[in-house]
Amino acid sequence: MADQQTAVLGVWAGRSTFILAAAGSAVGLGNLWKFSFVTGEYGGGAFVLVYLVCIALIGIPIMMAETALGRQGRQSPMASMRKLARGSDVSRHWSLLGWMGVLTGFLILSFYSVIAGWALAFTWDLGVGNLRGFTGEQVGTHFDALVADPVKLTGWHTLFMVLIALVVARGVHKGLESSVRVIMPLLLVLLIVLLGYSMIATDQFGRALSFLFSLNFSTLTWEAVLAAMGQSFFALSLGMGAIMVYGAYMPNDASIGSAVMTVAILNSVIALVVGMVIFPIALANGVEPSAGPRLLFVSLPAAFGQMPGGQIFGTLFFMLVSLAALSSSISLIEPLVAWTVERFLMSRVVAATIVSALIWLMGMGTVFSFNVWSGEEYQCFGMTVFELLDFVTAKIMLPLGGLLTAIFASWIMKRSVIYKALNLSLARFNLWRALCRVIIPVCVCVMFAVSLYKALT
Ligand code: PFF
Repeated sequence: MADQQTAVLGVWAGRSTFILAAAGSAVGLGNLWKFSFVTGEYGGGAFVLVYLVCIALIGIPIMMAETALGRQGRQSPMASMRKLARGSDVSRHWSLLGWMGVLTGFLILSFYSVIAGWALAFTWDLGVGNLRGFTGEQVGTHFDALVADPVKLTGWHTLFMVLIALVVARGVHKGLESSVRVIMPLLLVLLIVLLGYSMIATDQFGRALSFLFSLNFSTLTWEAVLAAMGQSFFALSLGMGAIMVYGAYMPNDASIGSAVMTVAILNSVIALVVGMVIFPIALANGVEPSAGPRLLFVSLPAAFGQMPGGQIFGTLFFMLVSLAALSSSISLIEPLVAWTVERFLMSRVVAATIVSALIWLMGMGTVFSFNVWSGEEYQCFGMTVFELLDFVTAKIMLPLGGLLTAIFASWIMKRSVIYKALNLSLARFNLWRALCRVIIPVCVCVMFAVSLYKALT
């Protein structure tokens, strides 16, 4: 039977391991760092609502499609796509989707590693007590000094890339499974502790809640809607084959629908809780919600500086942020490393070293975006290298990859094959198919068209 393929690459121990691995990929800097600062930049509640609608109507169906394609293909995204295209009698060029994913992963990881480097730097600074008793303003000055220093940034970026290379070179399975099992629960517990702190110790919880949840559509521009859609792809790791790879290891009898729902809900809850932690603390410390990429890094250390046991909690928190970033990074780099091993018949160690070195080099563009290349003369379309990479990946490449995945699964594949692969009740399958066939293409294409129109006028 077509859906009873044996995985070429191995099978997860069970459904819970797929959930853990997919959550490990999804939960990362996207929830812990990016979600709150883009919410802050785009004005709060209305943006959050659009984001959640995008997760429900676009993100979840695409994640189901990606998982099903992976489980059906049971190989790397390129090979799986080629095999499935052959099975559906369509052009093998659909495997280009796998290629685009690899390129997207390469570009995302180049800046992701630099930001994860900030988390490492703050783990260190909090651990050795460099920020003890700092106010929001003092932490801000400390942060500015860090990003203005290309040598320090390069050091932390290098350390993070070395960590990724080490994990990937050793093979991801064991390390990934066991680390995610520890990271996720610890992260949740710490977030709940921090939530208690923001509720009790700041007098801004109510204000922050109304910022996060009250709907003020006057701040909702097309740009904000595009950003919300891009963020939903980024946060769920969609559109670049990462979830397809993990789907390839999923046992045949596990239910894709409930596994995907669990990951999506966990992911969104974490993002919202982080917002509920960060905004009260930021407001209480005079940090504006629109502070941009520095929001997490400036507001939280200020809170840790004031609370009892803050040094330990703070160090632990930023260590968990770094680890969550590491488990996401592994899913960004793994397809490229796997392909390099396959294509050039080299050992995993050599492949991981070469790929990491190339990504490291690319990452220097982001390192310099915050200092030596921050001036206008180094910008392209008014964006620094970092902003450009973020824009191109989250707002163009991931939505495009997701759109093509949805089209392939719902229009190109034989209905009977995808029906069996998804293993949903008929009513749910029909809903999934309508979303993938009509709603997702319309939403993504409208967003692209509007952005293009805005860019040209
Ligand atoms: N979802 C990750 C995060 O929110 O940090 C980022 C990411 C990982 C995006 C893997 C895409 C991907 F394939």
